[in-house]
Amino acid sequence: MASLHMRLPYAIKIYERILPKATIYPVKNYFTSPSNQGDKNLFTPGPLNTRMDTKAAMLKDYGSRDEEFIKTVSYIRSNVLLLAGLSEDKYTCIPMQGAGTMGVESVIGTTVPKDGKLLVCSNGAYGDRIASIADVLGINTVYLKDPETETTNVERVKDILVNDKTITNVAMVHCETTTGIFNPIEEVGEVIRIYSPDASFFVDAMSTFAAVPIDFEKSNIDFLVSSANKCIEGVPGFSFIIADIEKLLKCKGNARSLSLDAFSQFQGLLSNGQFRFTPPTHAILAFKKAIDFQKDEGGVKARSERYQENRRILKDGMKKMGFKELLKDIDQGYIITSYFFPDHPNFTFEEFYKRLSDKGQVIYPGKVSQANCFRIGNIGCLYPDDMEKLLSCIESVCREMNIELPLH
Ligand SMILES: Cc1ncc(COP(=O)(O)O)c(C=O)c1O
Repeated sequence: MASLHMRLPYAIKIYERILPKATIYPVKNYFTSPSNQGDKNLFTPGPLNTRMDTKAAMLKDYGSRDEEFIKTVSYIRSNVLLLAGLSEDKYTCIPMQGAGTMGVESVIGTTVPKDGKLLVCSNGAYGDRIASIADVLGINTVYLKDPETETTNVERVKDILVNDKTITNVAMVHCETTTGIFNPIEEVGEVIRIYSPDASFFVDAMSTFAAVPIDFEKSNIDFLVSSANKCIEGVPGFSFIIADIEKLLKCKGNARSLSLDAFSQFQGLLSNGQFRFTPPTHAILAFKKAIDFQKDEGGVKARSERYQENRRILKDGMKKMGFKELLKDIDQGYIITSYFFPDHPNFTFEEFYKRLSDKGQVIYPGKVSQANCFRIGNIGCLYPDDMEKLLSCIESVCREMNIELPLH
């Protein structure tokens, strides 16, 4: 603890030197505030804001064989499983260098047998990305596309599995961050358990893991991917795969890529605790700090409650101003929300975005193909105060743009 306090002011000095003064927003107390200390608030699907002490934890150079570093890798692998409520006897956590997509590509490339067939359930850009990965890797794929504003149709998944006994793997996205919709992983997992018990089930839980409780047993999940800079609030640099060990051991020799071979990465970690190729040492150190903070905060439950409170404040405030949500309330999760553009002649997204950004508030363009939307996320190091501040900035920006509130 004492050493952290000695290191932190030094970290802040460096940080202030890197950031031009003009971009520094009202500074909160560096030592007590959990929030972002001068950076813009990122209401996006990622990269996300991180705590100051998470960033400060990176100020150390380790070699990949350093005993302390190897211990840290082992610590984060065990603690990801602890956060998920999983036993190390049955599951393992495999960190994989790169962005979240590399983790997804690693699972798809490693777990589908050479002569296998993959069912991809998609209702948005990230589901489509899984299908694109399979296409590039030359994997035989059945593509089930649902509308972006509807959850995965479990009955259609069932029909496909009943009629096609050659399907070996099923993949879907938990929160389709394109819209913010929560997909029914438990129901799909149950259908797989009944109609294709030998098929492996992969869930892309990039934007939900550690903030939305996931029951692996009930959902029948064999493989799951998330990344360091999502709900655990580490810095970007690697993703991690949670794998059912028994299922993973059957994947030897499947890989379509040398570096993204999840089986070999697991074997490497098992043999000497090391990554096979240069590890993201600094990002791992930050991740350890972020995990420790989440444990102190109260684990998945507390993270879930904070994000739900952020979402509640956003939802109520935006509704008062007359903004309309894209999704039905029942399907809308608490990770990110899509809003229709206001139907007002003075509104352009570019100006709205820029004016908000100038006030230190970064929102995100929409990703929906059928409607003009923008998105507001409430994950990362964001707290209810940050949501209130965003709402007041949105109100000011609408006033500046001569858009009367509430919207009609
Ligand atoms: C559900 C989901 N899958 C995959 C990704 C891709 O992650 P990355 O941008 O880190 O490659 C994202 C990113 O937000 C996501 O939300």
